[in-house]
Amino acid sequence: MKILITGGAGFIGSEVIRQYITETDVTVVNLDKLTYAGNLDSLAPVDSNPRYRFEQADICDAQALRRVFGQYEPDAVMHLAAESHVDRSIEGPSEFIQTNVVGTTVLLKTAREYWSVLTGERKGRFRFHHISTDEVFGSLGESGLFTEHTPYGPNSPYSASKAASDHLVRAWHHTYGLPVVTTNCSNNYGPYQFPEKLIPLMILNALEGRPLPIYGQGDNVRDWLYVGDHARALRLVLERGRVGETYNIGGHNEKTNLEVVHGLCAILDELVPGSPRRPHESLISFVQDRPGHDRRYAIDASKIQRELGWTPSQTFASGLRHTVQWYLDNRHWCARVLDGSYRRERLGLVGAKP
Ligand SMILES: NC(=O)c1ccc[n+]([C@@H]2O[C@H](COP(=O)([O-])OP(=O)(O)OC[C@H]3O[C@@H](n4cnc5c(N)ncnc54)[C@H](O)[C@@H]3O)[C@@H](O)[C@H]2O)c1
Repeated sequence: MKILITGGAGFIGSEVIRQYITETDVTVVNLDKLTYAGNLDSLAPVDSNPRYRFEQADICDAQALRRVFGQYEPDAVMHLAAESHVDRSIEGPSEFIQTNVVGTTVLLKTAREYWSVLTGERKGRFRFHHISTDEVFGSLGESGLFTEHTPYGPNSPYSASKAASDHLVRAWHHTYGLPVVTTNCSNNYGPYQFPEKLIPLMILNALEGRPLPIYGQGDNVRDWLYVGDHARALRLVLERGRVGETYNIGGHNEKTNLEVVHGLCAILDELVPGSPRRPHESLISFVQDRPGHDRRYAIDASKIQRELGWTPSQTFASGLRHTVQWYLDNRHWCARVLDGSYRRERLGLVGAKP
């Protein structure tokens, strides 16, 4: 089994690759452009394995994609490459349209070209797995959960570009018969996440005694899933998911942003008892809310549980503790990924509604 994984140098893609290489005999080709969010350091634990290959390429580059498909002849594609940060999408939406919409289209076209000339068993077992987000469904009120039948209602340039890519994947299945599966997952957290996202940003700021900026009142709710659990769900869907279906993946862990930050401050107080920053929660500061900030996301993951037997293995308490410990133990990784272009400044207020 040989899988072409796009965006494998990112947070979730690198977890999927580390699992495939260390826990299975699958061969992985990692195709990644290496944007600011892609870091080969995240593959260091597996990059000397002969079942791991890396190709630096842009998913918008049809010629490069054709060469990679021709050279490696994959049995499946897992498509994770994307621009993924909402605040960046508010500041500069074009890059999101380019990679998430145009790039996905180029990848779909190339995959179809490749798949259409396969024969027999190889053609039958080929899969195109599109990895997407629950943000395509928009925002929930106090109650209710996103199911696979919730109508799309994206509110940010990021979620709109992901929604567009989901629709394109669906169209390639219905129009051309490409064997696709799509997953929509809630917020991930865990080791190797780029420190612009909430949890790693707060951990690093707290360790350095910097303010912990919370948007608005901190009452926006997200359903948090440990990245290792997401990767296991993705592997299961690729292996056993029904063609043409979508699967929602979530952690059953609804937390407000303020609860998350309080939780990680308490863990830091315990794990770094000599820190002059204790209690770390005294660093919390409330800042202007993100424009168009979705109020609440929550996933009904009963379909993947019922059909494929998947449930998350980490609770939020165990996953968060493990994550904080990982960032404490891997400060060199953080220093290396934070190059001159990003210094944990506030992004995404450009064009905010007054
Ligand atoms: N992080 C989450 O909480 C979350 C939740 C649900 C779904 N998702 C989806 O999962 C996927 C992976 O998310 P992530 O958090 O690992 O993202 P990430 O930003 O950490 O990584 C994205 C990777 O894609 C690569 N990339 C970007 N543009 C590219 C291009 N044009 N060509 C080739 N490679 C390119 C980057 O170099 C990077 O390695 C995304 O599609 C995202 O929408 C993420």
